[in-house]
Amino acid sequence: MAQDDVFKKLVAHCKEYGYVFPSSEIYDGLSAVYDYGQYGVELKNNIKKYWWDSMVLLNENIVGLDSAIFMHPTIWKASGHVDAFNDPLIDNRDSKKRYRADVLIEEHLAKFEDKISKEVEKAREKFGTTFDEKKFRETNPRVLANQAKMDELNARFAKAMNATDLEELRQIIIDNEIVCPISGTRNWTEVRQFNLMFSTEMGSTAEGANKIFLRPETAQGIFVNFLNVQKTGRMKVPFGIAQIGKAFRNEIVARQFIFRMREFEQMEMQFFVQPGSELEWFRHWKEIRMKWHKALGFGDDNYRFHDHTKLAHYANAATDIEFRFPFGFKEVEGIHSRTDFDLKQHQQYSGKKMQYFDPEKGESYVPYVIETSIGVDRMFLQVISAAYTEEELKKEDGTTDTRVVLRLPSVLAPVKLAVMPLVKKDGLPEIAENIVKELRFEFNCQYDDKDSIGRRYRRQDAIGTPYCITIDHQTIDDNTVTIRYRDSMDQERVRISELRDIISEKVKIPGLLKKL
Ligand code: GAP
Repeated sequence: MAQDDVFKKLVAHCKEYGYVFPSSEIYDGLSAVYDYGQYGVELKNNIKKYWWDSMVLLNENIVGLDSAIFMHPTIWKASGHVDAFNDPLIDNRDSKKRYRADVLIEEHLAKFEDKISKEVEKAREKFGTTFDEKKFRETNPRVLANQAKMDELNARFAKAMNATDLEELRQIIIDNEIVCPISGTRNWTEVRQFNLMFSTEMGSTAEGANKIFLRPETAQGIFVNFLNVQKTGRMKVPFGIAQIGKAFRNEIVARQFIFRMREFEQMEMQFFVQPGSELEWFRHWKEIRMKWHKALGFGDDNYRFHDHTKLAHYANAATDIEFRFPFGFKEVEGIHSRTDFDLKQHQQYSGKKMQYFDPEKGESYVPYVIETSIGVDRMFLQVISAAYTEEELKKEDGTTDTRVVLRLPSVLAPVKLAVMPLVKKDGLPEIAENIVKELRFEFNCQYDDKDSIGRRYRRQDAIGTPYCITIDHQTIDDNTVTIRYRDSMDQERVRISELRDIISEKVKIPGLLKKL
């Protein structure tokens, strides 16, 4: 099935099974804003807990914070967001559609990469086990030609972005004959800058209202609390502050469901280090964060780093962790070495010292910062798109049937077990209810007695419940139940008293944290 179709089905599935709804749907929705339904909110909470525990529980030198969304407007002047948090936008005069000029160019660059991947895959099929990918990439003329074009374009693009040269960005689009995907024409306007911050007013007009911004990242709340946390927590460099919270960006082009939203959530950690040690810590956090992703078991080949060639003026290293979404490899998380830029800016704009006295060195300095920054919603999309599977099943009569199953890691699954009486009589519902009453303190359980048992299994597969427990007449005699495993559909008979241990092992977050 085409990847576009898979993605459309995934979006429909999220809505049909209570994961994600378009915001304000009865009023025809609000562009790039979404609501999380009864299962979506559970999955989101589990993702956040996995991240939070991996930061705050596993690292003695990382503590949490929950700073306000509204902050003093000067913070955004100091951070550079008022002057420079812009995207270059361009309009197509025929379709009247608006695009990010940099994204149009990036998508064009990705086409070269696709061509190279196709050549590699073709050769792999042809040569089988004797295929040497490295050698092929270094010698095949078509691969080399595409790579050369890509490198040349990349260099020109990076130069234009670093210099904020809007005319040159437009020229790159023209020279590469990039067309509007809707009208198919090259009738482009000039490239203009567009600030992504939402603003509102604080205070009544009578008092004299102040323009304030909705934060476009949670990180600045951490920077301005750096000294509060360091002093009250008696933290010693190196140490980190972790925060999960909403962020808002007036994205020009909001697309691909919850991939790019106007209201979203971030999980950010700022790690404060001695100047000079930052690149070592940058490498450390790259490794740790990649391990965190891979521990979920979606396949190591589905992740890669994308090291930045165009660095923000305050960074001396940056990389993205990219995941293979149904629409290609895209950024899920950014890891940035932000130098001492942010703390120094706040020092200058607030007039307050943002220094740390290092008892070992016997001197004060402004620490350098490594940031890890991941979007909760984007992580949610990663998890759900990796989990969504359609399987062909052979029935006993020889015909086939399709099973839609969310192969969610058990620790992240919204419902851990469904408890089902085979029939709604003979005391079976009461036994099922008692099991739920017993286990619900530890696991999110669901009691389900509607429809045939087969339909109930399918419903639970579709929401990704890893375990279904069925109570039948044998249960009355010997206190055993059937446990059905979502992924293999295998069933086995176990004692009711064993259920807690069987399920605990797989669904509790510490099991996953121990892999890190
Ligand atoms: N403090 C650094 C920072 O905000 P960023 O690369 O702009 O860096 C970090 O954002 C992460 O936040 C991204 O990797 C992505 O997962 C998420 N993110 C950014 N913009 C988003 C949007 N419009 N919708 C959903 N997630 C977004």
